[in-house]
Amino acid sequence: MKITLNPQAKDDATRKALVAEGGFGKHYTDHMVVCEWSEKNGWSEPELKPYSPITLDPATAVFHYGQEIFEGLKAYRQPDGGIALFRPEANAVRFAKSAARLALPEMPIELFIESVERLVQHDAGWVPDKVGESLYLRPFMIATEVGLGVRPSNKAMYLLIATPSGAYFDPSKAVSVWISTEYVRAAIGGTGEAKCGGNYAASLVAQRAAANEGCDQVVWIDAIERKWVEEMGGMNLYFVKGKGRSATIVTPKLTGTLLAGITRDSILSVAKDLGYKTDEVMLSIDDWRDGVASGEISEIFACGTAAVVSSIGQAKSVMGTWITGDGQPGLITSQIRNQLLGIQHGAIADTHNWVHKVC
Ligand SMILES: Cc1ncc(COP(=O)(O)O)c(C=O)c1O
Repeated sequence: MKITLNPQAKDDATRKALVAEGGFGKHYTDHMVVCEWSEKNGWSEPELKPYSPITLDPATAVFHYGQEIFEGLKAYRQPDGGIALFRPEANAVRFAKSAARLALPEMPIELFIESVERLVQHDAGWVPDKVGESLYLRPFMIATEVGLGVRPSNKAMYLLIATPSGAYFDPSKAVSVWISTEYVRAAIGGTGEAKCGGNYAASLVAQRAAANEGCDQVVWIDAIERKWVEEMGGMNLYFVKGKGRSATIVTPKLTGTLLAGITRDSILSVAKDLGYKTDEVMLSIDDWRDGVASGEISEIFACGTAAVVSSIGQAKSVMGTWITGDGQPGLITSQIRNQLLGIQHGAIADTHNWVHKVC
């Protein structure tokens, strides 16, 4: 990898002050990685270089037809002061799958991992120290052929940027959700399983509708029967059935329209490690409402890289409003959150070989 260091890298005091601000996506680190691809020459040598704007011709394909994919993963400070990534191979594999769906070139897994490792090593000072905080890494790829013809681009650009990340949602509070019956996120054969910008562009009007209903997030249901619960804005969902040691923790089945979250997958194992039964199920809005009314569903939470685990309290839809438990984060939700964060931050033994030391 070609390395060009940033002569204007932030000094220690400035960088520490920016990291201490917390939040999400407010400040970016000193460097980024860029790697270009063309049909003719394949992938170029990647370059780590100073973080900077990029210049593109206004007729560049991505601006017109949205041929774009991205990933999201985090680097966590470890007890020995080192830094580790969490399951970066899983992000690399999903990135390649998203690329295939969007007719973009599949980036070799090793190249993806190398880019992430190098950026974290060079910008290690940007990784926060506190548990629950991390350096969020955003790899993405855009179609860069210039021209307005609608066809798969014969050029692409991969970029990797990073931003210090504090708590995404306040973990002590439950999130409220609006179950959208008006808008659909994904249908079989569409791009629901891919992490492409277009999915998020099309979701924003529903997110705004949720806000207009006084809710924090939107929950999607299936496109065909319009009753099966799929996922939340940018997170997968979990429902705790029963209480205490005999609880079963269930999550909507991957039907081809949901994003196969890496946190979702990790929680299936973590919950089992903690002694709970788990299941991947079809769960309808009626099951949700009735389960909450009868008390069978005792806790609900959403999970994803950005926010890790967030409790869900109030659910609102055209069918009514219902609140899970006492509307506060439940015990099992907190236990799973702490277990996962403990593994990510190296405080709990990593029996699944998920933690990838970088420095
Ligand atoms: C639509 C959607 N679902 C689920 C997730 C959770 O995936 P992960 O756990 O891999 O971050 C995300 C975030 O990437 C997402 O955007």
